[in-house]
Amino acid sequence: MKILTIVGARPQFIKAGPFSRAVRARHTEVLVHTGQHYDPQLSDVFFDELSLPRPEYHLGVGSGSHGRQTGQILERVEDVMRRETPDAVVIFGDTNSTLAGALAAAKLGIPIAHVEAGLRSFVRDMPEEINRIVADRLSTWLFAPTANAVENLRLEGVPVASGGAALSPTTKDQRPASYLTGDIMYDALLQNATIAQQRSRVLDTLALRPGTYSLATIHRAANTDDVAKLAEIFDALALLKETVIVPLHPRTKAALMGTDIEVDPPVRIIDPVGYLDMLQLQKNARMVLTDSGGVQKEAYLLGVPCVTMRDETEWVETLEGGWNVLAGADCDRILAAARRTPLTGDPPAVFGDGHAAEKMVAILERT
Ligand code: UD1
Ligand code: UDP
Repeated sequence: MKILTIVGARPQFIKAGPFSRAVRARHTEVLVHTGQHYDPQLSDVFFDELSLPRPEYHLGVGSGSHGRQTGQILERVEDVMRRETPDAVVIFGDTNSTLAGALAAAKLGIPIAHVEAGLRSFVRDMPEEINRIVADRLSTWLFAPTANAVENLRLEGVPVASGGAALSPTTKDQRPASYLTGDIMYDALLQNATIAQQRSRVLDTLALRPGTYSLATIHRAANTDDVAKLAEIFDALALLKETVIVPLHPRTKAALMGTDIEVDPPVRIIDPVGYLDMLQLQKNARMVLTDSGGVQKEAYLLGVPCVTMRDETEWVETLEGGWNVLAGADCDRILAAARRTPLTGDPPAVFGDGHAAEKMVAILERT
């Protein structure tokens, strides 16, 4: 098979690690980097430390409005698809790179596999919700990370696959179906946890002792683009009165600069970190506070209590048993959630067995 894989944003580089490894063991992969994320700390660092293959194509689109960014990726990736004529296109998650890749492939009649299909926040003004709904509608292979994602798709009329036999590899006679593969981010975590433990020096560099700090990430548009919400979040972090490490997304850095929000110790802003450092920071944190999808899941998988600074989550499994609590961008709710009784034991296994990527490749091979 010749598989064309599209990545563009930080979490997609991390997800592509296990996938590229599984595909390249037996097939040809053409890796396309759209250039949506381009800062070395949001892009190069992942290719270097995760030993990702160098992209065969870099589209260099950079930042822009949704229309401009999506349009430029669409135009450029279409040229690549025409040249490469892959058997299938693989897209990850819910970014503008995902959306543009789906549109280009669908119009060229190339079947699409969507990794992380079936996630829903049920909030239509969230850009990612639009991207993931369109990507799911256009895909042939809907690789669902959880049983809940399979159910979301079933409610939208997508049947559960029966062994892949129902599928046709062309879009002419396409019968989309969902496959419960488990979560590819769990593959990435398992493949890198020991390496992170051995190589990351981040705790020493930041002079942190395990269990004595919290970790926060903020980048969701609903929070960064609303000064009042951003102020509530940083007020809450300050009122925790403990060391809070904040690897700051450039979007949030830009948003803070236009405000009078002050961030003082013990809240410590640092540059975005690589995946290995991030795993170490999460694993050793007392608590994680985030609006990230991936970070909610990783906190759960690492057994670290999480406060999600949103009003809803696509990863509803993480709420079971109280490992994750929704607190919105509301200072009082964030503080209450952060001060809840510590949990013991391990969260239930709901994200598969860490071999999602191999299952995906096996499914593609069967068709
Ligand atoms: C994007 C995804 C989001 C995902 C996130 C992962 C969309 C609509 N959003 O959000 O789903 O959770 O990536 O991190 O696709 N910027 C830089 N340097 C960079 C990249 C971005 O400075 O390398 C700044 C620019 O000011 C840019 C802003 O960040 O305008 C937002 O970047 P963009 O890629 O549009 O969206 P993210 O917020 O990163
Ligand atoms: N991440 C990282 N460095 C950071 C912040 C996040 O490596 O400074 C990793 C994190 O461990 C997770 C992924 O990036 O694997 C999540 O990406 P992000 O929060 O940007 O996007 P989302 O998952 O919300 O789409």
